[in-house]
Amino acid sequence: MWEAFCGSIIRDSCAGELAPFRQPQLECATAKFAGLKSIAVHRRSVRWFQDRDVPRALVEEAAAVGLTAPSACNRQSFRLLIIDDPELRKRVAKIPMGTAGFADQIPAIAVLIGQHRGYEHERDRHAIYVDGGLFASGFVLALEGLGLNSCCINWPEIRVKNRQIRKLIGLDEDERVIMLVAIGYGTENQLVPRSHKRHVKTVVEWR
Ligand SMILES: Cc1cc2nc3c(=O)[nH]c(=O)nc-3n(C[C@H](O)[C@H](O)[C@H](O)COP(=O)(O)O)c2cc1C
Repeated sequence: MWEAFCGSIIRDSCAGELAPFRQPQLECATAKFAGLKSIAVHRRSVRWFQDRDVPRALVEEAAAVGLTAPSACNRQSFRLLIIDDPELRKRVAKIPMGTAGFADQIPAIAVLIGQHRGYEHERDRHAIYVDGGLFASGFVLALEGLGLNSCCINWPEIRVKNRQIRKLIGLDEDERVIMLVAIGYGTENQLVPRSHKRHVKTVVEWR
């Protein structure tokens, strides 16, 4: 089972050599860290978008960054469905409850779909959500770095909502929506909520 599963993933995604390698030192680490931090600090959830197409290539570039995330056993057991079709994107954006008031004007909406098939044990039933969250983090930071704005959208675990989305976009039996991400170019001069972040000292503890 293990080999069959890993084998299929490796065949799909690894073009290069399959052998451990010596990881080189990161060059110009200080400058690179500063760049990462400035993107992270700049990112805000943006909900109002220009009526402007989102370049698919940029979203895919951001998804590639998301895919660098660690995942349990490197299984990466999820897929990302990005909907920019003018009719479908509105219908999908209206299903989750957290888009009230802004669902109609989202240029592209990404649905992050976890696939339980990657984890055969019940004990790993949360793994798709952890892996998906790590992917999403890199994805939204990369979107920001590419000049796009985004807003993560909660997926409500409600039977009727699951039925609705399943019918609209087609989901396999083992697939679950993890979250959605609204993507677009934010309207100019809009006011975004000032969401304060906790101080690191209130979160981090050492022993
Ligand atoms: C998993 C997740 C679900 C979210 N769901 C919604 C949502 O349904 N509607 C919404 O307007 N914002 C949603 N957000 C955005 C949060 O409200 C936002 O990230 C938070 O207020 C912090 O603001 P910031 O992203 O600007 O830092 C969600 C964010 C995350 C990470």
